[in-house]
Amino acid sequence: MQKTILLNWKANKNIIEVEHWLNNFPKDLLANKPDLRLLIAPPFPFIAQMRRLIDHQQLAISLAVQDISAQGAGAYTGEVVAKNLEFLGVEMAIIGHSERRKLFNESSQLVASKVHRALAADIGVMLCLDEPDFPEQAKLLTEQERTRVSVAYEPVSAIGSGQAVEPETVKAFFQKLRQFFPFNPLIYGGSVNPSNIKDFLAISDGVLVSSAALELNDFILLMQALG
Ligand code: PGA
Repeated sequence: MQKTILLNWKANKNIIEVEHWLNNFPKDLLANKPDLRLLIAPPFPFIAQMRRLIDHQQLAISLAVQDISAQGAGAYTGEVVAKNLEFLGVEMAIIGHSERRKLFNESSQLVASKVHRALAADIGVMLCLDEPDFPEQAKLLTEQERTRVSVAYEPVSAIGSGQAVEPETVKAFFQKLRQFFPFNPLIYGGSVNPSNIKDFLAISDGVLVSSAALELNDFILLMQALG
């Protein structure tokens, strides 16, 4: 099965920087890595232009979003709902990232509603979880929804701290996740960098990376670390 590299750009970059990233993306970087699938989750305003550049330059990059509204289309000022993303080729939504849970008070119930909306729109889900919230979160999904998500173990202490957890700890947590998500792709995120990416990919179905791949040159180093 292909392994996922999902880059979360969080609330970084302007359009000039985004165009620079894509216009300078070395086309052959992933040529010898057919087992890798690269997704980028930019801030919403850049999705359409990225779609154009990716198509025009035939880049092997898929688009993701960092969040999605729990609402349907309608009078919801400021929300970005699934319908807004139609025809833009968005393949995946990160849902329940700890920054959304912590800084924007997203409850597990709200996260479950977002999962429901994304799946109903045929957008794949990268459901982010940490140790304390995972049983509650899993139980709020329907059986069918549970089978359809990818699950990212995102220990809060490891995010943006430069302190990834040990691969053994990740393996142990994956074991616990298996009682709810027996066959799902399991991803690790939190301070993934060139010196540890290989170890994490060896024990998971992919990695979620932010800080270590915001700049194109850093992303190239990350890929080169895979050999
Ligand atoms: P980081 O962020 O790579 O900067 O630790 C990871 C994440 O938020 O998923």
